[in-house]
Amino acid sequence: MGTARIVFDRWDGRYARRMARVRSSAVRDLFAAASRPDIISFAGGMPEVSRVPAEAAANAAYEAVIHEGSCALQYGSSEGRPALRAQIVELMAEIGVRLTADDIVVTAGAQQGLDLLAKTFLDPGDTVIAEGPTYVGALQAFSAYEPDIVCVPMDDGGMRIDALETELARLGPRGAKFIYTIPNFQNPAGVTLRPDRRRRLLELAREYDIPVIEDDPYGRLRFEGGHVKPLRALDDDVIYLGTFSKIFAPGLRLGWMTAPGPILAKVLLAKQAADLCGSAFAQVTAERYFSGTRWRRVLQGLTRTYAERRDAMLGAMEEHFPAEVRWTRPEGGFFVWAELPEFIDAGVLLAEAVEHGVTFVPGSAFYPDNRGRNCMRLAFCYAEPEAIEEGIRRLSEVVEDRLELYRAFIAAGALPEVTEGVA
Ligand SMILES: Cc1ncc(COP(=O)(O)O)c(C=O)c1O
Repeated sequence: MGTARIVFDRWDGRYARRMARVRSSAVRDLFAAASRPDIISFAGGMPEVSRVPAEAAANAAYEAVIHEGSCALQYGSSEGRPALRAQIVELMAEIGVRLTADDIVVTAGAQQGLDLLAKTFLDPGDTVIAEGPTYVGALQAFSAYEPDIVCVPMDDGGMRIDALETELARLGPRGAKFIYTIPNFQNPAGVTLRPDRRRRLLELAREYDIPVIEDDPYGRLRFEGGHVKPLRALDDDVIYLGTFSKIFAPGLRLGWMTAPGPILAKVLLAKQAADLCGSAFAQVTAERYFSGTRWRRVLQGLTRTYAERRDAMLGAMEEHFPAEVRWTRPEGGFFVWAELPEFIDAGVLLAEAVEHGVTFVPGSAFYPDNRGRNCMRLAFCYAEPEAIEEGIRRLSEVVEDRLELYRAFIAAGALPEVTEGVA
């Protein structure tokens, strides 16, 4: 799996201290195993790009070069092309956020937004508040700037505001540099922040004078239930990250950030140092792709596909998983979070699962401090429903084997029974 080879590094001791904190992403490491044809992967949160009509993407890219080559092949402005930013204004208006093009900076995916915000806000020893578990790419981006990352637990209604309040009271006003949240179909937990909690979170952020970063890659991938207004629609001070990765294709590496003017100006400086400007070619291609209405039908089709896969996964888990396992029931997005009894280490389980031809990401990847060891993130976005059913059946055998051992220990009085969990 990944680069397990131990290599003598003669440059060790020269690297910046911050690199010691940056862990390799377990998800990236799993890509090698996931690409074996006999393996059913619940590991990577990869969009089903095969459902994006190849000729629509090809036409957009062709037109970018043929009709706008002098821009598409040239350097562009750091904030991004005005035409694309105007399209983003419309996309945001559809989810209840009113902006002008000046409020937007185009980024190389939401991931670059996270990195730029970390670069802009964080000094070593600063505190960041995030959900626990949280997005592994955010942990990577933040860790390089050496903050303490405080994780607030979630339940079915998203971040637990009582727990947030406790942390804020402990840290005091301005006690954290920012609060990072993924309110819709959270990665990895799959849960959505309830509307009342959104309002309360914003009240608390104001009271304690702490900026909020809202990362929303999955908001448009809702299978059921009504649209919930983004935090940014409720408060102009929220920093919002959007992306084309899930509504078009991650290969373009295109996303956007909107933030209060002074923050955006600082981020822009950070971005100039990072890449001068984003890919003009990708931006013109996206402009062409989003200029008609076909993308809407494609997105509807994609969302239906993900919904079928979610149903396949939840149905198979219901049928095959032992009673001791608990899991979330996402209303959209890509992920189910499953919690095993506390004494089971999902990392150990993974090695056995790979032997049985199925992968997932162990929960500890989503915490800064190795919590979540008994949890698994199961991505339903990428495998076909039949493969999902087979993959869950295989995984349930591995889990069942472990649990038999665990039950035997309990029967012998060697382990306390675990009754509480967060899933
Ligand atoms: C919560 C979250 N944020 C950000 C990203 C990064 O997305 P991208 O850089 O492709 O826009 C992802 C990707 O999976 C994600 O799940």
